[in-house]
Amino acid sequence: MNTELKNGINWVGHIDWTVRDFHGYKTESGSTYNSYLIEDEKCAVIDGVKGPYSDKHIEHIKSFTALENINYIVCNHAEPDHSGGLPALMAVCPNAEMVCNEKCKIALEKHFDTSAWKWHVVDDGDSISLGKRSLSFINTPMVHWPESMFTYVPEDKILFSMDAFGQHFASAFRFDDEEPLDVVLHEAKAYYANIVMLYGRPIAQTMAKAAELDIEMIAPSHGVIWRSHLKEVFEAYQKWVVCKPTPKIIVLYATMWNSTQQMADAILEGAQECDVEARFYNVDTTHATTIVTEILDCAAIAIGSPTLNNTLMPNMAGVLCYMKGLRPTNKQGFAFGSYGWSKRGGASEVEDAMKEMKIEITQDPIRSQYVPTPEILEQCREAGRQMGKYAEQFEN
Ligand code: FEO
Repeated sequence: MNTELKNGINWVGHIDWTVRDFHGYKTESGSTYNSYLIEDEKCAVIDGVKGPYSDKHIEHIKSFTALENINYIVCNHAEPDHSGGLPALMAVCPNAEMVCNEKCKIALEKHFDTSAWKWHVVDDGDSISLGKRSLSFINTPMVHWPESMFTYVPEDKILFSMDAFGQHFASAFRFDDEEPLDVVLHEAKAYYANIVMLYGRPIAQTMAKAAELDIEMIAPSHGVIWRSHLKEVFEAYQKWVVCKPTPKIIVLYATMWNSTQQMADAILEGAQECDVEARFYNVDTTHATTIVTEILDCAAIAIGSPTLNNTLMPNMAGVLCYMKGLRPTNKQGFAFGSYGWSKRGGASEVEDAMKEMKIEITQDPIRSQYVPTPEILEQCREAGRQMGKYAEQFEN
């Protein structure tokens, strides 16, 4: 496996082939915890790995240099998938200082026993010389946590971007041009949607800062390293940070005795009369990870649930809770659903959730008492048509 980014800079992270859950994100493609070793007159390790893999991380570093040679261990982000292995690493690197910003220091102190650590606290714009190279630090609050920062090596034009531009994507290869671009961009999109979508504004600000730098390579803390397709991922991020709508609609539903399913089918039929990409998901058979990834760039969404025990179907409630946290923007849509004897719950609670997410509501909920009549199904078809016509105006 080629791990060399530039002469003297190597990937020393861990490939997690089998991880399938990342606090609710179904990581079907596994992940990697990227760490990088820079060997110069002084040596630095950029970021750590998840706790259980610290031994492998240390062995990986030792395959390049003695641990006594490590002068700096940079923590760009305190979340445990990157910091969990740092206590073990600090314990075996007698000459290492922990390099991080003040907020990160506080977060690390609240996670681990850091009483024996030597600290080198940096702020936005600071730099450290390694000899021929230097490390410059750029605070990137809320990308992904308040303490997050980028480390930039101007001499090699490499940006170590921690979670930004990452992918939960286990691969035997380390670089973007060693895997099909559509696969890598899809994983980057899923990662963006499921991890950082709610931080679109700070990410846009961070991208503006990054655009001022001369960058040849972006080395994130998950997935492959961008060395050939920086333009493509930058352009994609520019769309994702505003959840830019495309000619695409989504029908998302739960069903109990198929009444809401029939309504969903009719909405889809109406939308498919238009020149749009339509996606159709039953929350019982599609994981929220996939649903949120597809919502990122849709123009409109219809969401339906029957009423069960005066509220929503539980799986729909779970998906809406996940969506509300990630806050997709720039969408419009409406709610629908069947009920038996109580109009409370079901479509009403779906609409409440959509309003909370600031989805522009285009019409009152479409409801059906028990099984939908032909008139109600035509109402659904027409709502689908209107949704499709709206989405048609956008470009991919
Ligand atoms: Fe990969 Fe926010 O941690």
